[in-house]
Amino acid sequence: MKINLLIENAKAITMAGEKAARWGQAQGEVGYLEGATIALAGDRIAYVGKSPLPEEFSVDEDTIKIDARGKLVTPGLIDAHTHLVHGGSREHEFKLKLEGVDYLDILAQGGGIHSTVKATREASFEVLYDKAKKSLDIMLGFGVTTVEAKSGYGIGDFATEIKQMEVAKRLDQDHVVDLVSTFMGAHAVPKDYADRPDDFVDVLIEEMLPYVVENKLADFNDVFCEEGVFTVDQSRRILLAGKELGLLPKVHADEIVQLGGGELAAEVGAISAEHLMAVSDQGIEDLAEKKVVAVLLPGTSFNMQKNVAAPARKMIEKGVPIAISTDYNPGSCPSENLQFMMSLASLMLKMTPEEVITAVTINAAAAIGRQEDRGSIEVGKKADIAIFDVASLEYMLYHFGINHTDTVIKNGKIVYRK
Ligand code: NIG
Ligand code: FE
Repeated sequence: MKINLLIENAKAITMAGEKAARWGQAQGEVGYLEGATIALAGDRIAYVGKSPLPEEFSVDEDTIKIDARGKLVTPGLIDAHTHLVHGGSREHEFKLKLEGVDYLDILAQGGGIHSTVKATREASFEVLYDKAKKSLDIMLGFGVTTVEAKSGYGIGDFATEIKQMEVAKRLDQDHVVDLVSTFMGAHAVPKDYADRPDDFVDVLIEEMLPYVVENKLADFNDVFCEEGVFTVDQSRRILLAGKELGLLPKVHADEIVQLGGGELAAEVGAISAEHLMAVSDQGIEDLAEKKVVAVLLPGTSFNMQKNVAAPARKMIEKGVPIAISTDYNPGSCPSENLQFMMSLASLMLKMTPEEVITAVTINAAAAIGRQEDRGSIEVGKKADIAIFDVASLEYMLYHFGINHTDTVIKNGKIVYRK
């Protein structure tokens, strides 16, 4: 078999094992391999092991060789929760936040998500595309090779929701980073439905969801289940209706107020429950029982400045698989830097560096249903690999806020170099 790219002398974190999310003690088992050789053929991983490369693999002058001595090699990172495609920015709310004005109060006063809805509505396809592409380039530079992108800034205006998902679809074709799309029509209650939100839920179920499915615009269906946004009952209706049509549920659950979103995610068979800063003990039990991936977003906790973080240790103790993502969006977390979130996951959620790398590789893959073909460095999986200029994983998380990326390989090709 001809090898196109060979990584030698690697200190690798392979995540080799089951093609499934890890929980409990296994969340911290990452499969270190010292002095490893990783051989890539086409867009797949052909060999991983101790050097030298077995004879069945042929290496010639066309083979690109990377000496990874002194560096750390991991699976390409996966950002499983972003609001990538949106118009505008919200720095005008920064001052309000510093003055102590609450996120949900800004939303209730017509700002927050509503202000991004206006900006997204006014932006053309091209403007949204260019802005999202810039962010994707930044993410790639941080070692990220797969990104989930949610719609949700059209809400009442379905054409804008469609525009967001079309942009994600086009970027998935044009950009080296793979995009996985989530419909989030239930991100806020449109202002014209403020006094009759159930009517909006009907529109979502009867008109929007069938259109999204028919036009293959998304794989998942997400709801912001939150006080003043969608109730547990409304969320349940929307999630079950989507599931019936083939869209797996995701839930923005117990982000700010403890409503029972964690319990709901388990009840409807969600693939993931996200945020969970205010999850109840019962919610944790239910998520553990159903092995719903908890996608935790420490950048949002940090940026909200409320001194509340998701109870990650309790979740690990109870057996909930954890993923860590950016939540990149113009309001609650305006940052594309997944490496920073990894440091925050250790500093704020008290996760070990090993638990954290699991959370941005195989568990993040599982949160978006892609654990079969990515999230680990194993023969047959996609050749998506990140190389960091650090001697250890501890150093990478400890030296926070900067970019440690040395090289990113996507589909077997070098796509980023420091
Ligand atoms: O995940 N919680 C709801 N949605 C986003 C924030 C969106 C926004 O503020 O624009 C979140 O935090
Ligand atoms: Fe979010």
